[in-house]
Amino acid sequence: MSNSSSVAFQRCINPACKAEFDCGQALFKCPKCGDLLDICYEWDKIEMPSKLSDFAKRWSNRNNRLDFSGVWRFRELLSFCADEHKVSIGEGQTLLQRNDDLAGALGMDAGSLYLQYEGLNPSGSFKDNGMTAAFSHAKMIGAKSSACASTGNTSASMALYAHSCGLKCTVFIGSGRIAYGKLSQSMDYGGHTIQIQGDFDDCMKQVQDVCTQLGIYLVNSLNPFRLEGQKTIMLRIIEQLGWEVPDWIVVPGGNLGNSSSFGKAFMELKQAGLIDRVPRLAIINATGANTLCHLFNEKGLRWNDGNVDNSVIDEYYAELTATNYSPHTCASAIEISRPVNLKKCLRGLDVCNGVVLEVTDEEIVDAKAQVGLYGLGCEPASAATIAGLKYLLADGTIGKDERVACVLTGHQLKNPNVTVNYHKEKQGPFSNPPIEVANDLNEIISKMSNV
Ligand code: F0G
Repeated sequence: MSNSSSVAFQRCINPACKAEFDCGQALFKCPKCGDLLDICYEWDKIEMPSKLSDFAKRWSNRNNRLDFSGVWRFRELLSFCADEHKVSIGEGQTLLQRNDDLAGALGMDAGSLYLQYEGLNPSGSFKDNGMTAAFSHAKMIGAKSSACASTGNTSASMALYAHSCGLKCTVFIGSGRIAYGKLSQSMDYGGHTIQIQGDFDDCMKQVQDVCTQLGIYLVNSLNPFRLEGQKTIMLRIIEQLGWEVPDWIVVPGGNLGNSSSFGKAFMELKQAGLIDRVPRLAIINATGANTLCHLFNEKGLRWNDGNVDNSVIDEYYAELTATNYSPHTCASAIEISRPVNLKKCLRGLDVCNGVVLEVTDEEIVDAKAQVGLYGLGCEPASAATIAGLKYLLADGTIGKDERVACVLTGHQLKNPNVTVNYHKEKQGPFSNPPIEVANDLNEIISKMSNV
């Protein structure tokens, strides 16, 4: 199978530009028009497996680090660097759990609901799928230092991967905007932390300028190599469904990297003839950070063959600036109002005939408690998927017998404050507070009504 980087190149997604660049450069935005860049492949030069199930044969060769990786096992589908540059710390050992109990609680048929637990990655979130790819590119081009803006998970993952392959790293976070579980990781992994008086969007803007001025390698999802790694989340879902495509993928929407890469994955798999249909995509925003939902549903913004109406976006962002708007949600991972991958996400929605909706913080914490009750648990942003699914079932968009895969993007222990407050403060119907009792045997036994 091919091992060369020359089969891949970068291309601007703007159909009026389509400028091309080789993969030896760290650009992250088209130098000609400023639009987003895609990684493209000369597929006819890549020796592809004839069917997806051929990838699974690599399970028998798991002492090879690339075959062990849940990302690089699919390496022909992200063939932008030679094996010697590929960085891996065992990412992508995640599972797709068929969850009939939660399905039943939501009124779905048994065998309809699947939870893709990305919290099982080395740093506890889906980000590791992308970081392994971004840092492989960084190694390939000889980068020495990396940076990102983050609501927490990107910084944890970046710090882990940077450390593992000898790059320096700096994290830009908004003051008070990051869950402690995540901050503790990046500090522990040795990341330098710059805490800005502002929100994620402020950090995202600053980090781009810092990286440009200081020649630092940016690992936010503006980085198209990162999104290549995240495609494999979809491959693993299909793999675990016996190489069948589900009817729906449900994913939280923040900076919109996942939805962009999922759309690209299905576009490429369909074009390569490896799947015969694409699933539908549901992207769930929090009401306190609902830019995509607003632009897609209220303003009718669409991909339109790449001719996205920029004036609609510009006008909305001008309004955010004029009103000094800052997003707020308990799902701090998706507390983002200027998602950098908006246009690629619109393409994903187009490819997958997608829908977008928003859910409240109350709905998110209730859904989160249900995932905990019936599954492995997840962080608030991830539970937005289940909260959104409830709406889609209620209005008939998703049938109770359709096969749905919800991507649980982050581990339950990332943001324990939200969980503890929900239970202790009895915030919802699934609250499960501890029972206070005196240090007295009879009193303790009298309170143990449930054993
Ligand atoms: N879920 C979790 C747990 C996240 O950490 C993020 C993003 C998302 C969902 C949203 O994904 O950006 O692909 O739409 N977290 C970023 C961070 C922004 O800095 O950790 P997206």
